[in-house]
Amino acid sequence: MRFQIEAAIQCSAALPEEGIRILEKAVQDANERLFRKGVPENVDPVEIGRITAWKVRDDQILLTLESGPYTRVHDAIFRFRKQLASLLGRLRIGLRGLEVISYRVLLDEGVTADLVPRLPFIRGIAERNGRVEIDLAVTASDLENRLPDRIVRLIEEKTQARQYGGKTEHWQLLYQSESRPRIYTGNPTDELIARKWIKHGSSRGQWIYAPQAVQLFRTFERIVEEEIIRPLGFREMIFPKLDTWDVLSRSGHAKGVYPEIYYVCTPKTRDPAYWEDIADYFKVTGEVWVEKIRERIDGPIGAMCYAQCPSFWPFVQGETLASDCLPIRVFDRSGTSHRYESGGIHGIERVDEFHRIEILWLGTCDQTVEMAEALHAGYSRVFNDLLELEWRAARVTPWFMAQEGMVGACGCESVGTTDYEALLPYNESWLEFQNVSVNGDKYPRGFTVKIQSGEECWSGCSGIGLERWTAAFLSQKGFDPAQWPEAVAKRIEEIPDIFRFL
Ligand code: SER
Ligand code: ZN
Repeated sequence: MRFQIEAAIQCSAALPEEGIRILEKAVQDANERLFRKGVPENVDPVEIGRITAWKVRDDQILLTLESGPYTRVHDAIFRFRKQLASLLGRLRIGLRGLEVISYRVLLDEGVTADLVPRLPFIRGIAERNGRVEIDLAVTASDLENRLPDRIVRLIEEKTQARQYGGKTEHWQLLYQSESRPRIYTGNPTDELIARKWIKHGSSRGQWIYAPQAVQLFRTFERIVEEEIIRPLGFREMIFPKLDTWDVLSRSGHAKGVYPEIYYVCTPKTRDPAYWEDIADYFKVTGEVWVEKIRERIDGPIGAMCYAQCPSFWPFVQGETLASDCLPIRVFDRSGTSHRYESGGIHGIERVDEFHRIEILWLGTCDQTVEMAEALHAGYSRVFNDLLELEWRAARVTPWFMAQEGMVGACGCESVGTTDYEALLPYNESWLEFQNVSVNGDKYPRGFTVKIQSGEECWSGCSGIGLERWTAAFLSQKGFDPAQWPEAVAKRIEEIPDIFRFL
C-alpha cells in the first residue's frame, strides 16, 4: 500500500530567503527524524512517510509526500506543519489552511477495482502496473478525521470478506440431542391456517394470531419465565421499539443492516392543514396518495425494532455501574421485531414481524460468560426434559460480525453466538429457533458503559423467538395435546373456537 499527497500550505506572507532556508532544513529534519518517531527500528525507510518534493510559490508552500503504512502522508503532513509553524513563528510568519491538491492510494496487489467502495470521497480509480490506484477527493479536515485510513481499512475488510468466500456464517456443531420418535410430519403452518388459529396479516410476512395460537406463545413464555428467567434472576424491562440512527450507529448495525430493516419516517409537520389535501384525496378517491405523502415526510429517523437489545443501551449510556449490582440481568418482551425478509411465502418460522423475548445481561467478562453458560444449561434442560425436542446447538460466526462486515476479525474465544436449531420433520431441515450471544465489550464500548472495578465491561444477549419455538414444537409434536409433553399439556387449557366463519 502506497500513499501520495500533494498539498499546499497557505502562509500569512511570502517566505523571505531565510524562511526558505528554514523550510529546507525542516524538510530534511522531518524526513530523517520527525517522521520516524514511533516507527519500529526494523521498518524499511521506504515504508515511512517522506517529503519527496517541495516548492515555494509566493505565500504558498507546495509539498509532495509519499509513504507506505508508517507515518502515512496525512499524519506526516500535519506533524510537519506543526513543526514548521513554530520555526516560522520566529519570522512572524503564520501558517494558515492546508489545501489538498491530490491524494492517491496505490492498493496492494490482488485488490481489484470492484472492492473499492463507491463513495463520494473516491474521485477516480485507475490501474498502475497491475495495481489499483484510487484518487481521493478529501479536504484537510477529512485528513484530520483519518478518512484515508478508514477507506483503506474498509477495502481490506472487503478483501478479507471475499477470501472467506462470501460465507457469512461459520458453523460448528456443539451439541446434538437424542433423536425423537416421529409423531407428526405435517407442516404446522398449513394446519394452523386450516384450523384458523392464524391468518395472514395485511403486511408482508405478518400473521394475525387467534387465541389458540396465542395460548401456545404464552405457554412457552411461561416456561421460559418459570424455568429460566426467574431462577437466574432476570427482571423485566420495556425497551423502545423504534431504533434511532444513533442507537444503530453505536450498536454497529449501521454498518450493514440496510437491506433488512423497516424504515421509520415522521411527518414534516403536525399541522392538519398541511395534510388536508392528502386526507381529502382519500375521501374522494378511496386511495391513499402515497407519492404526495413521500414529499411531506422527514426521515427516515431510524428503524423499527430489529435486534431488540440495542434500544436498551441508552439506559446505561455514559454510566459507571456499581460492582454490587452486577451482573445486570434484564429481559424485554414488550413488542415486535421487524425484518424485511427475503421474498416468497413462508410459514410462521420466517416472518417479517415476530415476537421474541430478548434476554440481556452485562458485567465483567467472567460474569458474562458464566451467565451464557447458565442459560445454555437452562435451555438444554427445557428442550430435553420439558419440551422433549430433537434439537442441536451450533457455534456460529457472531451475527453482529456478519452484519458489521467484520467476519473473522475477533480474536477472543468466548465472544460468539450459539444458535439453537430444531428439526422440522416435515422437510427434514433444521430451524434456528433461538440464540445466545456473548458480545464481548462491543455494546459497552459503543454506548460508553463502564464498571466500578475498572475491568472491561462485557455483555450478552439471547433471543427467544416465539413463532419459531411454536413452529419447532408443533412440527415435532403435532396438534394432539394428548401427545404433548406434560410440561406443555398441563399449561394449556381448552380454548373453544371463538370465531365461526359462515
Ligand atoms: N439481539 C440478538 C439478535 O438480534 C438476539 O436476539 O439476534
Ligand atoms: Zn441482542
